[in-house]
Amino acid sequence: MLRRSTIPIAIVSGLTTLLLFILFFSVSWRSIPQAIGLGETYGPTKEQIKSGENILPDLRTGKQGVAADPNAWREGDGAHFKEPKVESQSPYPVGVTKPAGSNYTGRLVIPKMEGEDTRWIDEQLGDILASGQMTTAIYHMDDPSALLHPIKNKGNEVMAYLSYLIDFYEDLPDVSIFMHSHRYGWHNNIVFNKDSALMVRHLSPERVTREGYMNLRCHWYPGCPDWMHPGAIERIYEKQEEHILADSWAELFPEDMIPTVLAQPCCSQFALSRERIHAIPKERFVSLREWLLRTELSNFLSGRVFEYIWQFIFTSSPFHCPSMSACYCDGYGVCFGDAEKFDYYFELNFNLNEYLQELHLWKQRAEAVAEAHEQARAQGGELSGEESLDVPEVGRDQWLKAEIRKLELEMHKRREAAFELGRDPRQRAKEAGRPWKDGDGF
Ligand SMILES: *[C@@H]1O[C@H](CO)[C@@H](O)[C@H](O)[C@H]1NC(C)=O
Repeated sequence: MLRRSTIPIAIVSGLTTLLLFILFFSVSWRSIPQAIGLGETYGPTKEQIKSGENILPDLRTGKQGVAADPNAWREGDGAHFKEPKVESQSPYPVGVTKPAGSNYTGRLVIPKMEGEDTRWIDEQLGDILASGQMTTAIYHMDDPSALLHPIKNKGNEVMAYLSYLIDFYEDLPDVSIFMHSHRYGWHNNIVFNKDSALMVRHLSPERVTREGYMNLRCHWYPGCPDWMHPGAIERIYEKQEEHILADSWAELFPEDMIPTVLAQPCCSQFALSRERIHAIPKERFVSLREWLLRTELSNFLSGRVFEYIWQFIFTSSPFHCPSMSACYCDGYGVCFGDAEKFDYYFELNFNLNEYLQELHLWKQRAEAVAEAHEQARAQGGELSGEESLDVPEVGRDQWLKAEIRKLELEMHKRREAAFELGRDPRQRAKEAGRPWKDGDGF
């Protein structure tokens, strides 16, 4: 018989590693913000709101680049800007838009695995596709017989994006939009109900043209303003790619120093102008793809590495955190009026989520109480009243429902008004802090 002590150590440690591995991947770090009460997007706490602390730090700074100059920071610009660390100026000039009213061509670049549902593209964007202004480049990641497929299915969406940049380098539309295959995602913009189709429909090709590179996510959390510290010694569970980045950096960018901070809104969805893509030699994309083919990192980690370097590749700046309100207004035509009003809308949104959560808990507790009564009756008795039941406050549910309804109405009104205001090109320029004169378009 095999005694316990004779089991080879290798097997034990192998099993332990496997267990840790399973444990690790069963708890996605993405769920951490929710778990610690930050809500689905980013999280001012109730205390922060009450204290009047600027909960959305970028808004009042107005534009990207403010953080680059410590002297430009003023009290009230937001807590996160107290220690501006990185230069965010991109060496690229502002792109030149077409005359007002011109059409732009676009292409939606999407990686698709077998079984993933991309029908939303035809169903929701059929009219834009039919007009010929928008085409798609859907990379079938695991189907080598498909017309568009990568040379190897490795590195998740990074492989699709780089393959597109290489395959279509000589045949680019005005704007290329890089997105995941799913229609809804927690990381999509809240005002569009997290719907990719609405984001594509409302995306301003003019903004993409001007900026060259535009992160499709307007919300800062997670990723901004101060996310990755590639030189960090400490290893953080939710940012495991941090130390890997430092190791990868030298291979990816042998000519560039490792920046102290890498920051941009998360999740690897962005748009690029033709001009910006062409500002980078095709060979660059080929060598990045070669790194991806070569690396021993898992798909999960190699994908993560790129999540915080796309902005470096396309803007040469490690820091890319444009104002949220400017992103919404200039980028999608959702203009709340100014940064404070934008701020206020998301405060309502925060309160709404709190109430919805509380109502959910109230119902759970009410059900538990009802069940306990039911059980007591089934056993021929009554609840003695001494059971330690968590009885919800009578009437609180009705109050919550009324508040939720009020908030929803108020938010609906403000949202509609924001879309209306966004039709005005002057307003878009104003909220983005850029000059505008009569006759200018978006
Ligand atoms: C833009 O496209 C629309 C729809 O395809 C078309 O009706 C319109 O004439 C185009 N505008 C210009 C300026 O080409």
